[in-house]
Amino acid sequence: MRLSSVVLAGGAVLVLAGAAAAVAAEGTPTFAKDVAPILYENCVSCHRPNHLAPMSLITYDDTRPWARAVRSKVESREMPPWGADTSVRTYKNDSSLTDEEIKTIAAWVDAGSPRGNDADLPEVPQFTEGWSIGEPDLIFTMLEPFKVPADGTVPYSYVTVPTNLPADTWISAHEYRPGDKRVVHHVISQVLEDDGMPATGEVKLERDRTRSRARGSRVGGYVPNRLGDVYEDGVAVRLPKGADIEAQMHYTTIGEEAWDQSSWGVVVTREPDSSIRRAGGGQVANLGFRIEPNNPAYEVTASRKIDEDTYLSTMMPHMHVRGKSAKYVIVYPDGTEEVALWVPNYDFNWQLNYELEEPIFMPAGSQLKTIFTYDNSTNNRFNPDPSSEVRWGDQTWEEMMLGYFGTVEAPADDN
Ligand code: HEC
Repeated sequence: MRLSSVVLAGGAVLVLAGAAAAVAAEGTPTFAKDVAPILYENCVSCHRPNHLAPMSLITYDDTRPWARAVRSKVESREMPPWGADTSVRTYKNDSSLTDEEIKTIAAWVDAGSPRGNDADLPEVPQFTEGWSIGEPDLIFTMLEPFKVPADGTVPYSYVTVPTNLPADTWISAHEYRPGDKRVVHHVISQVLEDDGMPATGEVKLERDRTRSRARGSRVGGYVPNRLGDVYEDGVAVRLPKGADIEAQMHYTTIGEEAWDQSSWGVVVTREPDSSIRRAGGGQVANLGFRIEPNNPAYEVTASRKIDEDTYLSTMMPHMHVRGKSAKYVIVYPDGTEEVALWVPNYDFNWQLNYELEEPIFMPAGSQLKTIFTYDNSTNNRFNPDPSSEVRWGDQTWEEMMLGYFGTVEAPADDN
């Protein structure tokens, strides 16, 4: 509701500015007819008022001052952010532009960024202010704000957020919303049954740094610039009665004191019946690596056995600033291999969750293998110290090797 008024306000400005806008020659791309559809489809999920990106790209007046920047970012393929090689696999959430779309934007900028006829504008997508999953049905918020000091390193902290759910509840989307996104580096949240046991899955990650009592699956994890997760139709995740959300919070300092009180929003779906497919997932991790100093492509691998027939649906590699590339490979019981994800240029700032267009069947006994490389050389401009041997650790100058993955049950008619 609130956003539509923002859009209306933008629309009003648009009318006033109309007189000054350039008139397009025949055949020249215009904002209304040619450019807005591309932006609405691929950019405004982040580029809308008060959301992830620094500016809105919804109206002509929003976009016009950014025309040259838009052209340069789409031509360099820095925008929209996307890391996976789509000649290997295709992904549902791939927002990367086609060559044709990039040419259209370039031609529009070359022609002086004409406005065109507002009657040609496509319908403006509607958003819920502050959430990418739509209006959440339930919002769980940290009971107390967390004080982040001005300077220094903040050790991981674990917060427990009770859901007080009176009954098992099935959700179709979830999203984590930072209280102060300047200080939230990342969040890994898990669902605990009311007896403190994990709701689903098991992860043996915490074994040598146990402060967490969780071994469960995530809801609404967070890394920089991350939108919420919406499951496909007919897929749902169970939040058990009385569950707690336990979150591992990683805060970074910004030179001034800050307070964070984060929230989790979930969209509730219908009761599960025989047609609903449960979503699950886990992590493939290697905790024992030692990345050599000055090595521009140090490889670390991990693998995990898949115990039950399931479909691989999503993948999200997590490394820190030395992360260079990430590959996920399914090794079938007969030894044949299939690449499910190849991210040739991993970017710490854009840790996307890649959603397979076609989930891949992993029969029981398959291995899910991850092969990550790290650039610990001076070529890596984000490298804080190429001369150090780097091991697993919480902080940004240490590293992680975590391959998150999501699964969905086989469709009912497969069983
Ligand atoms: C997943 C969210 C997301 C999507 C989708 C996205 N952007 Fe961005 N964009 C951002 C964020 C966040 C920033 C600021 C941080 C940065 O520059 O890395 C940004 C920065 C930019 C900038 C640079 C702004 C500046 O300050 O110079 C341009 C231009 C831009 N985006 C254009 C686009 C266009 C055009 C599209 C679609 C074709 C798009 N973006 C899609 C999140 C997104």
